[in-house]
Amino acid sequence: MDDKTINNKQIIFPPGPTEIIPYRLALKFITNPLSVLNGIVNNYGDISHFKFGPKLHVYLINNAYYIENILVKHNNNFIKSPGLRLAKRVLGNGLITNEGQMHENQRRLVQPAFNRNRIKTYGKIISDHCFEYTDSNWKDAMTLNIHKEMTKLTLSIISKILFGQDSLEISDIDKISESITIIIEYINKLRLPFLRFIEILPLPLTIKYKQALSRLDSIIYDKINERRKTIESRFQGEDNSVVIGETNEKKLNQRYIDMLLILIESTNDNDDNNEKINDKKGTVQKNDKSAKMTNQQLRDEVMTIFLAGHETTANALTWTLYLLDRHPRVESKIMDEIISVTGNKSIDYKISFEDVSKLKYTEMVLMESMRLYPPSWAIGRQAIKDYVLDDKYVIPSGSVIIMSQYLMHHDSRYFSHPEQFYPERWSPEFRASIPRFSYFPFGGGPRSCIGEPLAWIEGVIILTTILKKWKITLDEDEQNIKLQPIVTLRPKYGIKMKLHKRK
Ligand code: HEM
Repeated sequence: MDDKTINNKQIIFPPGPTEIIPYRLALKFITNPLSVLNGIVNNYGDISHFKFGPKLHVYLINNAYYIENILVKHNNNFIKSPGLRLAKRVLGNGLITNEGQMHENQRRLVQPAFNRNRIKTYGKIISDHCFEYTDSNWKDAMTLNIHKEMTKLTLSIISKILFGQDSLEISDIDKISESITIIIEYINKLRLPFLRFIEILPLPLTIKYKQALSRLDSIIYDKINERRKTIESRFQGEDNSVVIGETNEKKLNQRYIDMLLILIESTNDNDDNNEKINDKKGTVQKNDKSAKMTNQQLRDEVMTIFLAGHETTANALTWTLYLLDRHPRVESKIMDEIISVTGNKSIDYKISFEDVSKLKYTEMVLMESMRLYPPSWAIGRQAIKDYVLDDKYVIPSGSVIIMSQYLMHHDSRYFSHPEQFYPERWSPEFRASIPRFSYFPFGGGPRSCIGEPLAWIEGVIILTTILKKWKITLDEDEQNIKLQPIVTLRPKYGIKMKLHKRK
C-alpha cells in the first residue's frame, strides 16, 4: 500500500499498478480497456487504485456491494465521470449529462414519454417498422454487415418513436448513422487530455466532426420547430392553451402524438415537492410548475434519446444474432417459443406488445447476451466529496471511480462457467440468488437507464420478428470479430452475416 498526502490529508491507497511514464496507463486503457481492467482486477482484487496522468486518481471497484453503495445509497456523493462529461459537447444538458437538481427536474419532465401506455404504443411502431424494413430491404442469400443493419433499424425506429409521421426518411438514415460514428470516434479521442488540442485546430477530422454535429443539430431543431408550428395550428384549446392530457389525447389526431409532442407538452404540474430548481448559472429559482422545456432543453433531450436510444439496443441485437448462430440449440428453442406464442397465425403475423410477456425464453436469451456483451461495458463516477470505502480507504474528492459491467458479468463468483452462453441460467430462483449489482446492464439508482422498459420490448420484438422469417448465419469469410469498447461495446469491424429466408 502506498501512502500519500492530498490536500494535506494522509491518504492510504488500495493496491494497484503504477506507471513511471505519465499517461502510459491511460493510453493503454483507451486502446484496450477490457484487458487493462481485467489485468488490474486479477492482480489487485475488488478495490484497486491507479493514476491516469500525473494528477487523476482512479479507483476500480469490482464488488456488487460497493457498486450498489456508489450508484444507489451514496449517489449524492458523486457526479458523472469526466469522460462522460465530454459528451456535453454533443448532448448539451440532456438527461445523461445533467447533474443535481437540474437532472431531477428534467427526469420528471422526460418520464411521461416512457410510461406504460406510451411503451405499448411504441411496441406497435417497433413491430410494424421492423417487419416493413426487413421485408423491403432484405433478400434471400444476401450477405450484410449485421451491426450496420441493426444500427439502421434501431435508428429508424427511434426516429419513428420520436417524430412519428415526420420521422426521417430511410434514405437519410445512412448519412445520419455515419455522422453519429464520426461524432463518437472524435469524442473518444478527446478522452486523453493531451489530445484535446485537436479541438482548436482546423484538422480534417475536427472539421468533419463539426459538420456531422451541425447536420444532426439542424435535423433536430427542424423537427422541433415544425412540430411547434403544427401544435399551434391544430391543437389550440378554448383558452388558447394546447390540450394534450391522457383524455384529450384520444380526441386528437393520433398522427401527431409521438415522443416529441409528449416532451414539448410535459410540465411538472403533478409534482408537489419540486419548489425550486437551479438554472444554468446555478441560481436557485422558484420552479414554475407549468413551465415547459425551452427549445434548447428540448434539443438536448431529443439528441440524448436519439443517440442513447439506438446504439445500445443495436449492439445487444447484433451480439444476440451472432450468439444464436453459434448456438443452434438456443436458436431452435426460441423458434419453438415463437411458434407456441403465435400459434398457427400466418407468416405475416406481427409480434404484438401483448406477446412480449409470453416470450420468456427470448427475454432470457437477451439477458444472457447482455451478460456476455453488455452494451454499456463500464460506468464512471467522480467523487465530489471525500468518500469512505470499506471503512478503510478514503477516496479523495475529485477521484474517478470505474465500475465495469463487463468484468462483473464475467465474474465466476456470480456466474458459473461465466464464458458459456447459457440462457437457462436466468431462472427466477437464480435471479433472486445473485446480488443486485452483479448484473447491471442498465446501471442503477437515480441515474439508471430511463429507456430500460423500451429496450426490453424493442429487443424481444425485433429479435422474434426477424427470427420468424429469417435464419441468419455467420458468413464463411468472417474471421475478424473484435470487441470495440468505445462508448458502447460494438464489434470493431461489424459482423458479416448471411440471410436465409425461412420457407
Ligand atoms: C440495451 C439497451 C440499453 C442499455 C444497455 C442502456 C444502458 C444504460 C446505462 C448503463 C445507463 C446509465 C449510465 C450511468 O449510470 O452512467 C443508461 C442511461 C440512460 N439511457 Fe439507456 N440503455 C439502453 C437503451 C436505452 C434506450 C432505448 C433509451 C431511450 C430511448 C435510453 C436512454 C437513456 C437515458 C436518457 C439515460 C440517462 C438517464 C439519467 O441519467 O437519468 N437507453 N442507459
